[in-house]
Amino acid sequence: MMYKPMTSAAEPCYILQIFFPMPSTLHHLVVNKSWNQVVAFVSQLTLTEKVNITTGVGWMGEKCVGNTGSIPRLGVKSLCMQDGPLGLRFSDYNSAFPVGVTAGATWSRHLWRDRGAAMGAEARDKGVDVLLGPASGPLGRLSKGGRIAEAFGADPYLQGLALANTVTGIQSNGVVACAKHYIANEQEHFRQVGESVGRGFDISESLSSNVNDKVMHEYYSWPFQDAVKAGVGAIMCSYNQINNSYGCQNSKMLNGILKDEYSFQGFVMSDWQAQHSGVSNAAAGLDMTMPGDTLFNTGHSYWGGNLTLAVLNGTVPAYRIDDMAMRIMASLFKVGWTVQGAKETNFFSWSRLQFDYRQAAAKENYEQVNFGVDVRANHANHIRESAAKGTVILKNNGILPLNKPKFIAAIGEDAGANPKGPNGCPDRNCNDGTNAMVYGSGTSNYPYLITPDSALQQQAIKDGTRYESVLSNYLWPSVHDLLVQPNVTAIVFANTAAGEGYINIGGNTGDRNNLTLWKNGDDLIKNVSALCSNTIVVLHTGGPVLLDAISKNPNVSAIVWAGEPGQESGNSLTDILYGKTSPGRSPFTWGATEESYGNNVLYKPNNGKGAPQDNFEDGAFFDYRYFDKQSDGKPGSDQKAPVYEFGFGLSWSTFKYSDLKVVKKNDRPYQPTTGLTIAAPTFGNFSTDIKDYGFPKGFRYIYQFIYPWLNTTTSGREASGDSSYGKTAKEFLPPHAIDSNPQPKHPAGGEPGGNRQLYDVIYEVTATITNTGNTMTDEVPQLYVSHGGDGEPVRVLRGFDRIERIAPGASVTFRAELTRRDISNWDSKAQNWVVTSAPKTIWVGSSSRNLPLTAKLQ
Ligand code: NOJ
Repeated sequence: MMYKPMTSAAEPCYILQIFFPMPSTLHHLVVNKSWNQVVAFVSQLTLTEKVNITTGVGWMGEKCVGNTGSIPRLGVKSLCMQDGPLGLRFSDYNSAFPVGVTAGATWSRHLWRDRGAAMGAEARDKGVDVLLGPASGPLGRLSKGGRIAEAFGADPYLQGLALANTVTGIQSNGVVACAKHYIANEQEHFRQVGESVGRGFDISESLSSNVNDKVMHEYYSWPFQDAVKAGVGAIMCSYNQINNSYGCQNSKMLNGILKDEYSFQGFVMSDWQAQHSGVSNAAAGLDMTMPGDTLFNTGHSYWGGNLTLAVLNGTVPAYRIDDMAMRIMASLFKVGWTVQGAKETNFFSWSRLQFDYRQAAAKENYEQVNFGVDVRANHANHIRESAAKGTVILKNNGILPLNKPKFIAAIGEDAGANPKGPNGCPDRNCNDGTNAMVYGSGTSNYPYLITPDSALQQQAIKDGTRYESVLSNYLWPSVHDLLVQPNVTAIVFANTAAGEGYINIGGNTGDRNNLTLWKNGDDLIKNVSALCSNTIVVLHTGGPVLLDAISKNPNVSAIVWAGEPGQESGNSLTDILYGKTSPGRSPFTWGATEESYGNNVLYKPNNGKGAPQDNFEDGAFFDYRYFDKQSDGKPGSDQKAPVYEFGFGLSWSTFKYSDLKVVKKNDRPYQPTTGLTIAAPTFGNFSTDIKDYGFPKGFRYIYQFIYPWLNTTTSGREASGDSSYGKTAKEFLPPHAIDSNPQPKHPAGGEPGGNRQLYDVIYEVTATITNTGNTMTDEVPQLYVSHGGDGEPVRVLRGFDRIERIAPGASVTFRAELTRRDISNWDSKAQNWVVTSAPKTIWVGSSSRNLPLTAKLQ
């Protein structure tokens, strides 16, 4: 199959203009207020001040993983961008939340909002202005993809709701959320040239994820559309190329889908070193470059002084730098950020010392950098609850919940502590002791880590249970001697780790090399269960592992997937093992073999020295959609059926599903958005005399720090040091790339999240759920839709709820609203969503394969 770039490198778009025609839009909380506030603010900025807030100061140039330049004249601090998706990175006295995929497994909107709100509060109190999370790219296409656990599961609908609710939570506490990584960032191999060359791969460009327009809309960009609708302030463009155009200079993805079609009002920030040019990024829709230098610590920037120069000589039009500044300030003001109220950052990314060089790269300005501000409040309660509710019981022959067992033997390194301490491996770059988070930038320092061993022991002491643990995978004689004793319940722990591509653990460079358990885990389980017929398997993994043999093993009485639970790991696990709270449902499929997933990480370059080409030929058919296609959605219909399907998880009770009702709500025909935007406005005047842009007199230059000023002001050509200087943008950008005239609005666009009518509720679906067992517990009813038509998946998730604490005998109503978007497909020709004429069916049940209720949509 041949893939072509979806469009030329630039599509003009001036989206902030829609603030004018749509003053009453509901989804941007403070649109009118912020518009006026932002115009007033940006109008007073000089050109270099505007450039300063678009450009990072360089790697390790300030306290956070990324900082913009400041505006001292107006008292604007250097804005702090800090990872990440499970809480603050490189900090102290902060919480370590469950990873995204464990949060995803709760299927709980309010827990996602609470998690976001707690992370936002911690960021705010540490002086972080933009939190670099949540993540929804990767979407979970690849079961071995390194960073799938940072996001919420292998389905766009689930991810979209988790992303949007997390954004809402974070921003409710005055911190801008940054949804990442936009887009199709599904694997770690070849994401960056330097990293790949360092590992002996001779490539000169990053991987290209080649995705067609329909799959892009229905899968990869779907969650980001939800985030935009929720008002997300920032979106991070990714390292990879999309259809052979880099993520941060791909105009189709940035100007086109994000800013035009989705009407994204905030700013696009580059991933770290993901910018590969200057003017083309500006024209394609990048608004902020991070961390500001071309590559870490070069001291040079594609923007900074070069952006100043490009605006001065007209290569980048003035409206575009205004648009960048407007978007950045609008996002801040929208969440309630103020110049006076913004907190100074009170921690330091580059050391835990109290005093250090604030400009770490330059070793300048020795001062107090860590202030030990404790921001954790009572977040441990949420962490414990949400990690427990995101723990999934995959198998249970009745051994769970535990009730004062006589004797527990806990076996395996994964039950215990890392001998180096919980934070002993920087960015968790080892897998020693229990695994409770990913590795890479999406990590936090633990304030403490409750190991399964310590929590289970506490519980055992309370219950009068005898408790012994062997915290190694290799001390077989000791394990053997425990397990041959009578009355033993064995809890055997095993794990895998996965994370970001700059880290290599045992030859796994981010992406996993296989789906087996690490450190002899599979053998450990086999050996333990061979001696003990009451074996409970506990797994700490960020994604699937091969469970076919384990699931069939009669001595394995239970399998519990505890995900990557964060600081309260042991407590959350104990809460589930002892039935103190309700478990979650799997947000991805557990296949019997690696091949059963039907796709794979691209481990070797396939295009000579050029960009490795990852053709997403699987389209919609990854995870459960692939398994359904193989085995027709019928449980056990053939060898290709999953071991445990998407949406599956056992509960403490049994539920009957009945009384499915579908009510048509809305008949109004869908109207494509029409009309034109206004012309792109410019705010404020600036001198066009290059002489005004040199470094201020007497300025003390900090080594490697990125500034908005020019090194020389004698001539533009000299200042740029660029042989192509003087070429107008017209000569190298596509026609209209920097055209400031009014533009037609996108038919599927119009306001944040797209055409308002996409969210019309077309059907209301209800069903009765009755607890037919003896225990009060939660149920997670799920609604799937078959869109019908050639080449469509058997069914896709389009509704769910976590209904809490349903009493035995009680009936509750599951209610789901199907919007126009939910029942539509993307029509690439029309460039809009359409409800096709194919017959459509819905199913309701407790997993993607246990769907007792079904109806046709009229
Ligand atoms: C690279 C990662 O891909 C991104 O997720 C992170 O936010 C930045 N580094 C900053 O650490």
